[in-house]
Amino acid sequence: MKQKIALVTGSNKGIGFAVAKELISANYEVWLATRNSELGQKAASELGENAHFINLDVASDESVLAAAKEFATKRDYLDLLINNAGIYQTELDTTAQTIDLKTIHYTFDVNFLGPIRVTQAFLPFIKKSAAGNILNVSSGLGSLGLQLDPTTGFDQMNIFAYNASKTALNAFSVILSNELKKSRIKVNSICPGYVATDLNGHSGPLTTEESAKGFMKFILNDDFITGRFIMKDGEYPW
Ligand SMILES: NC(=O)c1ccc[n+]([C@@H]2O[C@H](COP(=O)([O-])OP(=O)(O)OC[C@H]3O[C@@H](n4cnc5c(N)ncnc54)[C@H](OP(=O)(O)O)[C@@H]3O)[C@@H](O)[C@H]2O)c1
Repeated sequence: MKQKIALVTGSNKGIGFAVAKELISANYEVWLATRNSELGQKAASELGENAHFINLDVASDESVLAAAKEFATKRDYLDLLINNAGIYQTELDTTAQTIDLKTIHYTFDVNFLGPIRVTQAFLPFIKKSAAGNILNVSSGLGSLGLQLDPTTGFDQMNIFAYNASKTALNAFSVILSNELKKSRIKVNSICPGYVATDLNGHSGPLTTEESAKGFMKFILNDDFITGRFIMKDGEYPW
């Protein structure tokens, strides 16, 4: 059996780190792609010899290209890419009526353009996998269906830049999944649930470990499921 290789962005902490840990337990080799070298190296060393660190800032073209170049010197294929790195600028992300456009630009740069940059740079490696898999870490807050439905409570959570960046990310998942269907590469959005992390001041009810187990249920399913918006109990509407 060929060694399964995964790369997870933003994996020095939070959901990304917990998913990396689960992947190691499932015998994956994991590349922790993080923008802070010290934190990335520390996280990789905590996970043991099957974990490797690579420096990658998803908001920088140069950094992403340099990371792909470095990866090429070490490995020639990638089975699983998890576009996990994300931001939510709590104090700045205000209403659609008043939000500063700078907040929208930066949020989109990380949450939407980031996954596109990373996917484009690493797609040549994914195309060499026997079963390529791209998972974009979205949010239920990016679902227009949920935001329009007053019975869900999501209509009260108008975090404009964040929500819109995840809606755009979902569009990337859908269009890329259509493009890559013939190559048998899966592309899906996944919502990790409401998880206690730095992103939300640790307000979520789920632990990162519980959330990561939800990811693994999907990752370890060999069926060719693509173009879906996965959540722990099933699927979300787009
Ligand atoms: N927590 C939730 O309830 C929840 C719900 C739905 C979706 N999500 C999504 O889940 C993902 C992970 O979030 P989390 O809750 O685990 O948050 P977190 O603990 O704040 O972790 C976010 C990770 O993203 C990294 N990151 C931010 N900007 C980056 C950049 N420019 N380049 C590379 N890495 C960058 C952070 O690195 P630094 O340490 O260097 O900042 C950190 O490793 C995000 O996409 C988020 O939107 C979370």
